[in-house]
Amino acid sequence: MREFKSDKLRVCVIGMGPIGNRHADIYKADELVELAGVCDIIEDRVKTAGERLGIPWFTSAEDMLAALSPDVCSVATGGYEYGSDHYEPTIQALNAGCHVLCEKPICNEIDKAEEMVRVAREKGLCFGVDLNHRFTPAARLAKSWLDEGRLGSLLFVNMALWIGRPQDTDPPYFHLKALNPHSIDIMRHYCGDIAKVQCFATKAPGRTIWSTASFNMQFSNGAVGHLTSSYDIQRGHPMERCEVAGVNGRFVLEDMWREVTLYPAGDSVKSVYTNPVFGGYTGFEDTFRDRLHCFLKEVTEGAAPEDIDGSGADGLAAQKVIAAAIESLETGLIVTVE
Ligand SMILES: NC(=O)c1ccc[n+]([C@@H]2O[C@H](COP(=O)([O-])OP(=O)(O)OC[C@H]3O[C@@H](n4cnc5c(N)ncnc54)[C@H](O)[C@@H]3O)[C@@H](O)[C@H]2O)c1
Repeated sequence: MREFKSDKLRVCVIGMGPIGNRHADIYKADELVELAGVCDIIEDRVKTAGERLGIPWFTSAEDMLAALSPDVCSVATGGYEYGSDHYEPTIQALNAGCHVLCEKPICNEIDKAEEMVRVAREKGLCFGVDLNHRFTPAARLAKSWLDEGRLGSLLFVNMALWIGRPQDTDPPYFHLKALNPHSIDIMRHYCGDIAKVQCFATKAPGRTIWSTASFNMQFSNGAVGHLTSSYDIQRGHPMERCEVAGVNGRFVLEDMWREVTLYPAGDSVKSVYTNPVFGGYTGFEDTFRDRLHCFLKEVTEGAAPEDIDGSGADGLAAQKVIAAAIESLETGLIVTVE
């Protein structure tokens, strides 16, 4: 068991946009943790958040880390491709001895993401990425079916993830890099490492970014997979669907937490888990609550950094698949994931 400075973990949040405020609200309500402080380089944002939450606020991460010595830090900055600002505060927090939970994408640049993972490993600190789509009761049940061998040898995965993001001011690969850490992570979570990728993409009418994409994948274990992702479908529709098939059966997971169905091969009786009306997930925000709590629990219980669910290494692996997909899109070739 690790030694902590008080009976509860002390946690700080860096980056107080909508997502950082969400992390802070969740920590404030979590019994495992005391929310110690928040930070943003935009004074208005962090002052408003600090006063609302009734906790100290800072405009410099280094000042906050020195003043409060937290056990855990959330990094909820954004930046170019929604990920360029994660590197600096993550390294600062790790150097200050904090366990870090970083928003996705781990970073928009692979070499910096590698360094983030390396520094955490060298310091023996837990480093998680907010790959929140795998942290639901339905997603966990699907994983347990796989682990119990109910699907048998894997054959294929069909994944789809889409949201409406109609504004077109983002950089060309924003959709591929910022949305698909989630979908690639779910595919890797269920089917293992991805060895090769081929990607086609299109720009919806009136758009300048690659707003809808289609990926073919080959997994290291020989299974094959497909991903459709889009920023062109308006909200109100279902958002995510994951179908995984093996020689013994197949499951379909709808919308991360709503429903998962197991279809055993050769059996007309299926098993269906449906999100409970009472006590179940009420919306997407619950994926954050579950994910953040899971990281806090792992840190509290002294989990080994390499055993963190949704780790920095998982975030990095997803980003490498996306980099390979972008290379495929640019060259028209099948690309091996490095
Ligand atoms: N897991 C999910 O489902 C999910 C959903 C949406 C967004 N996100 C991710 O959450 C992150 C934040 O999203 P957002 O919409 O709140 O972004 P945002 O741009 O509105 O907020 C980020 C904040 O970080 C601050 N910041 C940047 N560098 C800083 C630094 N060095 N120190 C302190 N503050 C700094 C900025 O001033 C800004 O206020 C993004 O990386 C995004 O990809 C995740």
